[in-house]
Amino acid sequence: MMLPPEGAVLAPGFSAQVVYWQKSHGRNSLPWQNTRDPYRVWLSEIMLQQTQVATVLDYYAKFVQRFPAVADLAAAKLDDVLGLWSGLGYYSRARNLHRCAQDIMRVHGGQFPRTADLLQTLPGIGRSTAAAIASFCFAERVAILDGNVKRVLARVTGFSGDLAHSAQERALWAMATALLPRRGLLDAMPRYTQGLMDLGATVCTTRQPSCLLCPVQAVCRGFAGGTPENYPVKTRKLKRSAQSLSLLWAQQADGAVWLARRAVSGIWGGLYCFPVFGSEDELLATLPARLQTRLTPIQPFVHVLTHKDLRLSPMRLALSASEAKAASLPGGGAWFERDAWTGLGLPAPIRTLLA
Ligand code: ADE
Repeated sequence: MMLPPEGAVLAPGFSAQVVYWQKSHGRNSLPWQNTRDPYRVWLSEIMLQQTQVATVLDYYAKFVQRFPAVADLAAAKLDDVLGLWSGLGYYSRARNLHRCAQDIMRVHGGQFPRTADLLQTLPGIGRSTAAAIASFCFAERVAILDGNVKRVLARVTGFSGDLAHSAQERALWAMATALLPRRGLLDAMPRYTQGLMDLGATVCTTRQPSCLLCPVQAVCRGFAGGTPENYPVKTRKLKRSAQSLSLLWAQQADGAVWLARRAVSGIWGGLYCFPVFGSEDELLATLPARLQTRLTPIQPFVHVLTHKDLRLSPMRLALSASEAKAASLPGGGAWFERDAWTGLGLPAPIRTLLA
């Protein structure tokens, strides 16, 4: 007996509906679309990993203008890449971007690999990003599964496994693969991949999904059950920690700022920052008494990172040019004129303080 393909049982016609819907209701004129150039697709996918489309637009334009090809990015200084990335956050993405460009040049002869399996060996390219690039550029029949797509597929298939468990996550990957298009892949794969992303971003939203507008409502088990919002299931919450840091914000009247480059590993790796201390006492201990009395405390504030809440307490030290020359400030830093520091990679809260 011939059995129908798995996807047809899970949700008959699913991939065809997504492909058809994408043509008229999906996003089709973003600057990284309508190209099969893997450099551009890769750059956009890395930027879009943790950042919304609206924010990425400007950064993407600046990057392709400054680095039109992967060779240009590979040849750039890491500081220049971090500077251009400044404000996008999650700076390990920028460091991996640079390393990946260099690997493409050195290991792959300047050409992006053409399969998801090989793309995945590169820095910063995980399974889903590799699949996005391979399906967009090379029409490979391979599944993506980012946060939005997990939600769409868990709802459609009524997948009640707990995604905190890796076995359940693997099971959802298997479903994602079973649901892929089987015909006309050259056109269908890029459209299907984009269609899933678009569905997740615009219709199958976390809260109050627009099921009445959904092209796959008829096959959606989450909709049929009446509570699509209950999918996906994920129990384990991110463990968050908190840390307090004191920052020495030394600045001259003309705007020059004392900045030190952070070690590449750890918080704000590779970025330029005010000297950072574990406490106010530690900060004070690095300054001569005559400067300690000149510090002005700034209202502390919380800056939220992925796994950590940072409670930041800046201490402002305003110096004249001659005082700055005489003072020996801590942290292995240097004075940066306003024109110089505006182009550096700075942590977002530091840039906000300086603005
Ligand atoms: N998020 C991740 N990839 C995307 C893409 N290609 N278009 C829109 N949003 C995305």
